[in-house]
Amino acid sequence: MTEKKLAALLAEMSLEEKVMQLVQLPGSAYDDTANITGNELEPVDPRVKQLAGSTLGILSGKTAKRIQQEYMAAHPHHIPLLLMADVIHGYRTVFPCPLGLGATFDPEIVEQAASAQAEEAAADGIQVTFSPMADLVRDARWGRVMESTGEDKVLNGRMAAAMVRGYQGGGALKDEHTVASCVKHYAAYGAADGGRDYNNTELSEHTLREDYLPAYAEGIRAGARMIMSSFNSWNGIPVTGSAFLLKQILRSELGFDGVVISDWDAVGQLIPHGFAEDRKDAARKAFQAGVDIDMCTGAYADHLTELVRDGEIAEKEIDGAVMRVLRLKNDLGLFENPLRGFTDCTRNTTLEERRALARKAVAESLVLLKNEENLLPLRGKRIAFIGPYADSRELISTWAMAGEKEPVVSLMEGAAAAFAHTKTEIRISPGCTLLDNDTVVSFYQYHSDTWEEENERMLAEALKTASWADTVVLCLGEHPMQSGESTSRADLHLPKVQEQLLEAVAAVCPQVATLVFCGRPLALSSVAGRSKALMICWLPGTEGGNGILDVLTGKMPPMGRLPMSFPWTVGQEPLHYDCYATGRPKPAEGLGSFTTRYLDYPNEALYPFGFGLSYGDTVISDPVVSAVDLSEKGELTVTAILENRGDACAAHTVQLYLRDVSASRVRPVRELKDFRRLTLQPGEKRDVRFAVTESMLRFWRADGTFGSEPGKFQVWISLSSRQGNPAEFVLKG
Ligand code: GLC
Repeated sequence: MTEKKLAALLAEMSLEEKVMQLVQLPGSAYDDTANITGNELEPVDPRVKQLAGSTLGILSGKTAKRIQQEYMAAHPHHIPLLLMADVIHGYRTVFPCPLGLGATFDPEIVEQAASAQAEEAAADGIQVTFSPMADLVRDARWGRVMESTGEDKVLNGRMAAAMVRGYQGGGALKDEHTVASCVKHYAAYGAADGGRDYNNTELSEHTLREDYLPAYAEGIRAGARMIMSSFNSWNGIPVTGSAFLLKQILRSELGFDGVVISDWDAVGQLIPHGFAEDRKDAARKAFQAGVDIDMCTGAYADHLTELVRDGEIAEKEIDGAVMRVLRLKNDLGLFENPLRGFTDCTRNTTLEERRALARKAVAESLVLLKNEENLLPLRGKRIAFIGPYADSRELISTWAMAGEKEPVVSLMEGAAAAFAHTKTEIRISPGCTLLDNDTVVSFYQYHSDTWEEENERMLAEALKTASWADTVVLCLGEHPMQSGESTSRADLHLPKVQEQLLEAVAAVCPQVATLVFCGRPLALSSVAGRSKALMICWLPGTEGGNGILDVLTGKMPPMGRLPMSFPWTVGQEPLHYDCYATGRPKPAEGLGSFTTRYLDYPNEALYPFGFGLSYGDTVISDPVVSAVDLSEKGELTVTAILENRGDACAAHTVQLYLRDVSASRVRPVRELKDFRRLTLQPGEKRDVRFAVTESMLRFWRADGTFGSEPGKFQVWISLSSRQGNPAEFVLKG
């Protein structure tokens, strides 16, 4: 439909009809099987149900098709319903959780994964996905770090843009194998005080602009059609009621012209925030701040028409918001093809191809943190897989709601396939329960009356298995429902029962490779101390068992790098590599005195951002700059040499970091500016070269403008945010 015809349609609509385009109902309003929980609306007024512009969380194509047909037939102007859902790391085929996708440092595979997810979701009629989550995260206590791609704005920006491209496809959204992307949660939701979900965020405008906004901006630059306003307040003003964030920054500065949708019930939550007196006030303030669609509170449905009639909201403002919604429906081709999608999902890829891609993504996401005596890749002849994750299919996150558990490949199944037709014998033993007794997990408290004897029995059996083995793969981790929404934790250790299992097993068989399944950084210093090898597997998804065995057997080298710092202890949180030096930096060696430090723990992470080991034995030279001066319009290159002196293939993510040594605002001790993945065959030597330009040096200066400042810079080419020596250059005025 042309813009002119859209305008004509708008002109024909009644005020009530227009307002209802700005109302989103939970899928359960249309179908009680819709997979949406949480604060459902009270029974919905049939008029609202008939006119609401969108719904979310209907995860069945057959159901969605019926609902759309019924809805279209009865709608006065036959305007199609917009069907949205959370497809954040997989639909039927589930990929590694987003923090694991961030660990790949591979935007290409992340784009391919998003495209595969879109194809499966669109086949069920989904037209918009609430992804990517582009929130910068620095606090592992916050359970939603699992849904982010980590603590760095450059990595997050590239990943957000890759997901948007993957979901939306290169061309117009009329391709019915794509979905529109909604970037969330704007803004700074990941900075919640205390790491506690939904909490206030206390950030300077400078930090907001410098660190938290860039990744949302990259998603918008990639063409995202929707932005979701977040639950949190920023400096005491709820984002969903903030015209500064939703209009001044988002529209005027970032140029976003798509739809703004609130997070679930975030409009209604303006009341408990203490920002709105009642639902009418909440509707008024959210709409005036710039929220187009009210997700599942009913406040717009109940009060927006009245607010227009009372002259408190101009109808032309309503028209603007409704046009943005109609434009999105039009761009999706819904007016010509309201039953868009609902295909058999085989145009681009077959299920086998999507699973092969998921398997590759798993292998690329795994982060090897320790590998003493090159215990990995596995060489044993009698290998025991012990632990609660040894044969678990619980490898998909709580957000993979359409993900099917049945097809998930457990570690055991992966091992059986990997070692079939070999002389290696494998055995399995659960070893212990996944949780300590009486642990609160998401909506319930886990308790077992027989927990003690169950664990005594499992431990005895595990130790027998360990004494048989020459190598133990210990499969430990968080419960999948211990990360995700409303799952903040103030202690980051593994359950005691798991740490006890590790201690007992390592005493019987010291050759222990520990795998940790988690949705967040955990405090693993004692686990690392008792393991010869340690690998982070995140929540790996459908192909978890196969992808992990591909790396354990050496079929693929470990490639993942930490997208978020792993602490010694939760007391270090929030923790991120790109921190400020302070006026009394702790010396590299020793404690110094009167320096910025803890008496009881290091300042630094146990394992820092960007860190990860590979097989082989790679050395990297100090960087060399092509010139010591960089002019404003110029460019210099920085080069380092990598050499694999080992006998196995090595995979690396080489990282370019910069530091502005002296500026009008203090600058981080290091900032990631670029990265590149490469593999080195045994004996191979490779130059790695990065270009540095003035644009990389820009920041929000003390005078509030964005730009660079002349002066000295340090530059690293390294294999983590902590490793390597810098070279120097000067930016000339
Ligand atoms: C949830 C989440 C958001 C999700 C939305 C719809 O509360 O905060 O990430 O997209 O509701 O399910």
